[in-house]
Amino acid sequence: MKHLIAPSVLAADFANLQRDIEMINASEADWFHVDVMDGVFVPNISFGFPVMEAISRYAKKPLDVHLMIINPEHYIERFVAAGAASITVHYEACTHLHKTIQAIHAAGAKACVALNPHTPVELLKDILQDLDMVLIMSVNPGFGGQQFIANTYRKITALRTMAASLNPDLLIEVDGGVSMHNAADLIAAGANVLVAGNAVFADPSPHSIITSMKNVSTGITG
Ligand code: DX5
Ligand code: ZN
Repeated sequence: MKHLIAPSVLAADFANLQRDIEMINASEADWFHVDVMDGVFVPNISFGFPVMEAISRYAKKPLDVHLMIINPEHYIERFVAAGAASITVHYEACTHLHKTIQAIHAAGAKACVALNPHTPVELLKDILQDLDMVLIMSVNPGFGGQQFIANTYRKITALRTMAASLNPDLLIEVDGGVSMHNAADLIAAGANVLVAGNAVFADPSPHSIITSMKNVSTGITG
């Protein structure tokens, strides 16, 4: 499949959110990436339901909601009601991960697990078949604009190998420090969803950087 592009709304201009959402609607981006931070799981607070509902009112593409919060299982139905098409919970935040994944599916959303940079992909072996997607954090979660961690390539390759037998349709999403400098290599390693915050919104021409990322040459066809 052709890779997907998910611009991260965290890097948008919150005073002009409708404008930025419409820019993404009109672009070749596939999803909106929505980062929710609670100030406990990560040392930053982003936004919650009111902002998410506002995004949902104007967004014409699926909302890919990345929960960087403790106890995400308490809020799954509310995030789906607020417009989430997919919900990502952190492996490090879920004691009963299997149950949380079941709850996300029961609420009608795609289920995804995120791994912090220090968490090995091998820990997902017994849950991989139940997932629609795995999000590999390529920075420590909490802030946009950080430097990409190179070990991410090794993790993507290992996860793609593991998924070949357990869940061949698994989506692998990469989040943090993704730009035109690493997009082609990430896709070649086996990623098929690229999240990009600053690479899109800090660029003078966000619409064309999305086009470039979507059409990056990878040597992979189909
Ligand atoms: C970081 C968030 C990312 C962030 C990415 O914790 O999960 O989605 O917005 O921003 P960039 O692309 O600027 O690293
Ligand atoms: Zn994110």
